[in-house]
Amino acid sequence: MRAYLVAGNWKMNGSRAANGALLAAIKAGLDRCADVETCVCPPSPYLESVGTAVAGSRIALGAQNVSEQDKPGAFTGEVHAAMLGELGCRYVIVGHSERRALYGEDDVRVAQKFRVALAHKLTPILCVGELLAEREAGQTENVLERQLNAVLELNGIGAFANAVIAYEPVWAIGTGRTATPAQAQEAHAFLRGRLGNRDARIAALTRILYGGSVKGDNARELFAGADVDGGLIGGASLKADEFLTICAAAQAQVQN
Ligand code: PGA
Repeated sequence: MRAYLVAGNWKMNGSRAANGALLAAIKAGLDRCADVETCVCPPSPYLESVGTAVAGSRIALGAQNVSEQDKPGAFTGEVHAAMLGELGCRYVIVGHSERRALYGEDDVRVAQKFRVALAHKLTPILCVGELLAEREAGQTENVLERQLNAVLELNGIGAFANAVIAYEPVWAIGTGRTATPAQAQEAHAFLRGRLGNRDARIAALTRILYGGSVKGDNARELFAGADVDGGLIGGASLKADEFLTICAAAQAQVQN
């Protein structure tokens, strides 16, 4: 019912030459993953060239960030959602923990970015996740609920019909330490349950990705969770063989 989605978050990595080689290798290997949707999110200067490279392929284009501003204007350094749409973006990551921690994005701003993305027909990939201290203090569900509620309050449950959630425990991002499959499934089930309290149909449709040190050798067990619908992949999305192995792990779930 929910198609698996494997999205690559390239973060601030890449070059014209590296992007071209990476995409060529991914495209060449995707035949084995016919039922899995894929997406790459390059840095914004490369959106246009990457968009051209993936045009006509099964790889969708996504951006890593978007301005919360409704209208274009005097906002130096910002990128408006309409511009992303014009470049062919289908997805945009909002509220990644690096944006929250390093660039001061709070829950309200993340909710605004989500709203502007949807208004311009982009599918937001809303990132939520707890810090290690929050997990250790037993606060994981409170944090997830707070982050989710901010978006629900501004956008309503109906908005999630066209959105993706990524559960990314902050302590697992770029650390090589993943959540256990049970921890991931538990958080995903919690998130789906919170959506379900408002609308069971939308809750059943919304894809919830896991992110945080997903690699070729752990994707299969992480994706086995009933509420895990794919992954948001950082470091491993920069290596074609790793990314393809992760896509194949999602495909294997479809065939199960
Ligand atoms: P990672 O990053 O796979 O390198 O841990 C995931 C993310 O930040 O989305």
